[in-house]
Order: sequence, then structure tokens, then C-alpha cells
Amino acid sequence: MKYLICNLKANKKKDELIKYEKELSSINKSSNIELIVCPSTPFLFLFQNENYELGSQDLSKFNEGPYTGENTAEQLSSLNVRYALIGHSERRIYFHEDEETIIEKIKRAYHSHIRPIYFIGETKEEKNNNQTYKTLEKQIAHIINEVPDYKREKMILVYEPVWAIGTGEVPNYDEMSETIMFIKKIVNAYYGLSLPVLYGGSVNETNIEKLSSIQEIDGLILGESSKNVQIIQDIYNIYQKNI
Ligand code: PGA
Repeated sequence: MKYLICNLKANKKKDELIKYEKELSSINKSSNIELIVCPSTPFLFLFQNENYELGSQDLSKFNEGPYTGENTAEQLSSLNVRYALIGHSERRIYFHEDEETIIEKIKRAYHSHIRPIYFIGETKEEKNNNQTYKTLEKQIAHIINEVPDYKREKMILVYEPVWAIGTGEVPNYDEMSETIMFIKKIVNAYYGLSLPVLYGGSVNETNIEKLSSIQEIDGLILGESSKNVQIIQDIYNIYQKNI
């Protein structure tokens, strides 16, 4: 099974999303690529169609209670959310999310039967200092250690280099496949698990042909490219042809 995840971020208003959802509901799909859409939380209720799975872009580290502005995993689950993006670098940078918070969120997700999609990736500076593997190893080990054994196998990892987000830059392809293999090796060596490892960062109609030929990648996440359903369809078709 491969995954194609659409992370709409804080884009589009109600009317635009109504139109968007209608188009997405009639996208042509196959059974071997799971399509997951992650709209902004206030609009999740508009996305209730069997043609795709629903994900949230975040969730609260708290359970229900006096936490103004928060959306709990239980609330999201009641809106049919089955996946949640957790630890995206935009949340780490702009909302100062630390690893303790991320761990709490992952636990909340599991508790509400939401599958966590956990982001890892190095900054440009770490890359330039040859620290990529060290950073990834730390991000993996710390988080997975905190997740109870029997729940770990439901985790999905996304390798998303911070410098590749919204920049049009992607790692060179040999580097990419080596990094994905490194992540898989670490997860296997530490935990005896083989988790899906996805790639995200500037995936578009131009680089999808090459990206989808890297067999080690178990799925892709679209940010900017997810804003247009025709582009999602084009990417989906090429992905399907190449796997
Ligand atoms: P991008 O974003 O495709 O616009 O680089 C990807 C992401 O942040 O998940």
C-alpha cells in the first residue's frame, strides 16, 4: 500500500472548500494508493466522502476540558478523522512544539484510534554540517521509545527535510533513497519494525515521475500541490503508473 497525503495547511475558505471537496470526491483512484486529505479543522465536517480518507493537521495534547482553542483527538475522531499529522516542522517552528508535546499528541491520537503521521527531517544547517543522519536518528529514537510497543506498528513516518518545504528544492534522488533506507534500517534495528516511510517537500507534477520511481518511498505528501484537485489527479495518475 502506498499513500498520497494532501496537506492543505491554512489555505482556502468555506466556498472554495465546498468546490474542492466536490472535485476530490470524484477523483479517479486505485486500491493501491490511499488518498488522505487534511483540511483545516473547522472544515473537516465538509469532507465526509468515501472516496478519500480524512486526516487532521494537528490535534491537542489534552483530553477534553478547559483548553480554549484546542481540538481534541476524540472530537476529531467523531468527525471521522482517521489520521493526524504530528510534529510537522511548521508546528515545531511557529508554535514551538517540543518533543514532549509531540509525544503527548501521538498518545492522544492512538487513544482515539487515529493513526499518527510523524514528521522528521533535517534543517539546511544540519545538512550542510553532515548532521542529517544524526538528527533523524534522534528524532526517531526519542519519539518511538515513548510509544507503547504494541502501538508502534501503526505509526507512519514522513521524511520531510525542512529546507525542501515550499522551496521547490528536493534532495537528489540517490541521497533520498539512501536516507529513506537509513530511516527504515534504524527503525528496524531499534524496534524490529518496518514502518511506512513517506517523503514530503516540494512534490509537484514535474518531479513526481522521478520521485515515484524510488521504490523505497512508501508515499508522498503534497503541500502546495494539494491546493488544486487537477494537480492531485495528475500526480496520482503518474504515481500509480510507476508503482
Ligand atoms: P510543500 O509542503 O509541498 O508545499 O513543500 C509539504 C508539507 O509541508 O507537508
